[in-house]
Amino acid sequence: MHIALLGASGYIGTEFTRQIDKLGHKLTAIGRSNCDVYSVSSLLSVLEDASPDVLINCAGYTGKPNVDACELDKANCIAGNAVLPGVINEACETLGIPWGHVSSGCIFTGRRSDGGGFTEEDDPNFSFRNNNCSWYSGTKALGEEVLADASNCYIWRLRIPFSNIDSPRNYLSKVQRYENLLEAENSLSNLPEYVAACLDCFDKNVAVGIYNLTNPGSVTTSEVVEMIKEAGVCDKEFRFFASEGEFMAKAAKTPRSNCVMDCSKALNAGLKLSPIHACIRQALANWRPENREVRIEQQDLSRSSAGH
Ligand SMILES: NC(=O)c1ccc[n+]([C@@H]2O[C@H](COP(=O)([O-])OP(=O)(O)OC[C@H]3O[C@@H](n4cnc5c(N)ncnc54)[C@H](OP(=O)(O)O)[C@@H]3O)[C@@H](O)[C@H]2O)c1
Repeated sequence: MHIALLGASGYIGTEFTRQIDKLGHKLTAIGRSNCDVYSVSSLLSVLEDASPDVLINCAGYTGKPNVDACELDKANCIAGNAVLPGVINEACETLGIPWGHVSSGCIFTGRRSDGGGFTEEDDPNFSFRNNNCSWYSGTKALGEEVLADASNCYIWRLRIPFSNIDSPRNYLSKVQRYENLLEAENSLSNLPEYVAACLDCFDKNVAVGIYNLTNPGSVTTSEVVEMIKEAGVCDKEFRFFASEGEFMAKAAKTPRSNCVMDCSKALNAGLKLSPIHACIRQALANWRPENREVRIEQQDLSRSSAGH
């Protein structure tokens, strides 16, 4: 399979690149260096030249070091998260290229009123339409609205990625590094399983549409802390904010989404997502501290360039 990938240099794109390479698929990276990604005609011309079988978009504006930064750069954030998916869809529909968009579960907050996790049928409740969200979450929800009529597109919702590789972007690392933690209940996505599930959608001819690609279940911050301690990965004394009010006053500028998702649709489609507690324990049992990660990534990169 020949895959065109937008956002290959990012945290999520790096894992897509690693798995695409490992599976022996051909990869064409599309980005700002070889395309005006906001111009349908520029994207069409790059896609006509490359002629990929499918396209994956994991480009987006996340805000560094966190979503608070999106509040200060609203135009670029809405362009990257809501305009870009529309441009890609127009180009892919014109050329008949099936494609997938990396979306986010952060367009929800809490649980459904019946106590369950949010399904693909539920409307986002943490969005501009609800007037309660961060700019980042609002733009991600808008990105899904832009794709509402897309005919050949997967919307893969990712939620708080984690893996066994220590990194400032890995949730299990963040929990260890933050000075104070916010107690909250969330569904999470194991990054390697998430990416494998996305790629499986094409391999297994899964029906297009929205998929919550979170690991089954949910976990609280204090449960994650206990698992980190049990695994012996970090022995620091973990401290928690007394309340969400204290967190907002001291550590955040814009509201955060904490939510529980239902991933039954993905499981019923045959996608593999392992139960959340076991998956976190496995990541911690195979924990690779940051210095080792750099060496491993370099090895992977050298394999990747040799493979193309
Ligand atoms: N990481 C998370 O916690 C998380 C959770 C849920 C969903 N997501 C979604 O996953 C996607 C990728 O996130 P990430 O964490 O990998 O972000 P990242 O590390 O910041 O990478 C973003 C990628 O998008 C590219 N990009 C950004 N703006 C672009 C633009 N205007 N045109 C072309 N390329 C652009 C960047 O390319 P350059 O190298 O050129 O800057 C980079 O490759 C985003 O859509 C994000 O909303 C992330």
